[in-house]
Amino acid sequence: MSKKIFSGVQPTGNLHLGNYLGAIKNFVELSNDKENECIFCVVDLHAITVRQDKDQLKNNIRETAATFIASGINPSKSIIFNQSKVHAHAEGSWILSCMSPMGWLNRMTQFKEKAGKDKEKASVGLYIYPILMASDILLYDATHVPVGDDQKQHLELTRDIAQKFNKDFNCEDFLKPPEPLIKKNFSRIMSLKDGSKKMSKSDPSDLSRINLTDTKDQIINKIKRAKTDTFPIPNEVQKLKDRPEAENLLGIYSSISNQSLTKTLDEFGGKNFSDLKNQLAETLLSKISPISDEIKKLINDHDYLDKILLEGADKAEVIAGKKIREMKKIIGF
Ligand code: TYM
Repeated sequence: MSKKIFSGVQPTGNLHLGNYLGAIKNFVELSNDKENECIFCVVDLHAITVRQDKDQLKNNIRETAATFIASGINPSKSIIFNQSKVHAHAEGSWILSCMSPMGWLNRMTQFKEKAGKDKEKASVGLYIYPILMASDILLYDATHVPVGDDQKQHLELTRDIAQKFNKDFNCEDFLKPPEPLIKKNFSRIMSLKDGSKKMSKSDPSDLSRINLTDTKDQIINKIKRAKTDTFPIPNEVQKLKDRPEAENLLGIYSSISNQSLTKTLDEFGGKNFSDLKNQLAETLLSKISPISDEIKKLINDHDYLDKILLEGADKAEVIAGKKIREMKKIIGF
């Protein structure tokens, strides 16, 4: 069955292996299926929910688009654009904000994590950001949304908002509740330094993550220094319980090698972590280095990237513009 795919990535720099394995790799696979219509958005309106440097933001928008293309998304088959170029996203977000109860937003765990202890100082934008995300998805009638596990709650909220809008305005099926596409075992890549923390661009330690632009030496060094435990690698998945660092490295290896965790345990069960680390570093180099090289090549071609983003925005505008006009009519504008 053909799917309408929509997903987004924030242009906040340091895209890492978690973004790749949790989301972008899945974007590529979905976009390779000719049946699917795919839209991939550089969500720059989301990025400004925390302070961004103006020049850095511009670079990061291009770098995120370059990462999509370098990873294997073909811009002549999928739409690639940046959110701020299509007005309907912000407009839809406002309309949906006006019918979303605060109680729903108060439950969002990511806001609590990101705002930290001093919630009063977090921007209102950061608080209502899941509604902007709902607007992104619902404007395109997306049927499926590939994301990492950390976005699951935001997708549940998107479904609730769609259903509430349809009910409030008596327009059954107008907004389409989307299905999340979350890779079962590999949707949450953890820090290389602490298996209880998500791999994240905001972690102060660069050793905690593999950035998609890391050099070969950096990748080798980071894998060598990744935290493990003192037991040998087990033969069975159940025996990974309470061994988050071991589970994470084995999960990364399985995901990047496109094989199940069980198969990876067949390969490494009983062996030492040094064997796993050597093989993991080698596999990462063979899969990630070509992407890094391509990002570094594309990033200097501003004209090419700007053209892709502009053409993508024109196509996105047609779809989202139509939906927002219908939405405004429904609410009485
Ligand atoms: P963002 O930019 O934080 O992350 C982009 C994608 O990468 C996934 N991801 C991870 N997956 C596995 N392990 C990790 N450690 C890891 N870190 C990040 C995220 O789950 C995400 O899929 N709100 C979204 C962007 C967004 C969006 C949308 C997504 C805005 N509008 C509409 C889908 C549809 C975000 O901040 O992702």
